[in-house]
Amino acid sequence: MRARQSRPSVARVYSYVLGGRDNYGVDKDLGDYFMGDLPGSELLAITNRQAILRAARILAAGGVRQVIDMGCGLPADVNVHEVVRREQPDARVVYVDNDPFVVAHGRALLAIDEGITVLEADARDPSKIAEHPDVQRLINFDEPVGIIFGVVLSFVSDDEDPAGVVKYWTEQLAPESQVYISHFRPGKSREAAATERKILEAFGGHFRNDEQILACFEGLELLDEGLSPCAHWRPDPETEQAETPEAELSAWAELIVAGLARKA
Ligand SMILES: C[S@@+](CC[C@H](N)C(=O)[O-])C[C@H]1O[C@@H](n2cnc3c(N)ncnc32)[C@H](O)[C@@H]1O
Repeated sequence: MRARQSRPSVARVYSYVLGGRDNYGVDKDLGDYFMGDLPGSELLAITNRQAILRAARILAAGGVRQVIDMGCGLPADVNVHEVVRREQPDARVVYVDNDPFVVAHGRALLAIDEGITVLEADARDPSKIAEHPDVQRLINFDEPVGIIFGVVLSFVSDDEDPAGVVKYWTEQLAPESQVYISHFRPGKSREAAATERKILEAFGGHFRNDEQILACFEGLELLDEGLSPCAHWRPDPETEQAETPEAELSAWAELIVAGLARKA
């Protein structure tokens, strides 16, 4: 029998929208609301996830052999370590999430060998993560590291200083390390505004403008001209894409943007 849960979690609803099965009724109800009452809003999750996997491939293809996936979420159809290890078979991956449900599922499905770990930790406390024995064991900060912040900084308030969180890591990283960030950004369309309201009501969070998001890359060299909607970020013919008509995408695409930067 399924346990009851009174509040939806962002990890479970996101996973449900992506087609995952690890959720409670309350998560399914909210996911169904997004897909039924705000049709097309699921593209936010889908295009964000696809962009993360492209970023993981780009990092590894560029020579990065150690990755930290911050706010990793529930295991999905394709996971960061799988993409990274296609390019770098001996890559080490640290998954981090502060949701115990995510961590339990991640430990069961993602931590398949000694080179992968799933930490229950808070992205807002980076020094605690860096000092964790598993991170010390798997990550050599004298060599390039890839850090993925997939949406997670959208759940860090201004007072908690998202740019300061990234800066902590930037200062630890060796040259040629790379940082990928995807982040909620306010949209202009009626559909985007309604989706933003529903996300804030359900999960809290922070939609930031380009200037605020770009501030998170301080000390790093942005590898593209600026931020792009995840749907359009670094299209890669080798990675599977959802077939999405441009008109359908345009109402939502602006709500989530991505950027990749390197440490010189
Ligand atoms: C929308 S999901 C994104 C999952 C994955 N990064 C992706 O983009 O495909 C956001 C994840 O961030 C996690 N999260 C939120 N705040 C966090 C924090 N302060 N520290 C660690 N994880 C956090 C949530 O539990 C959730 O799994």
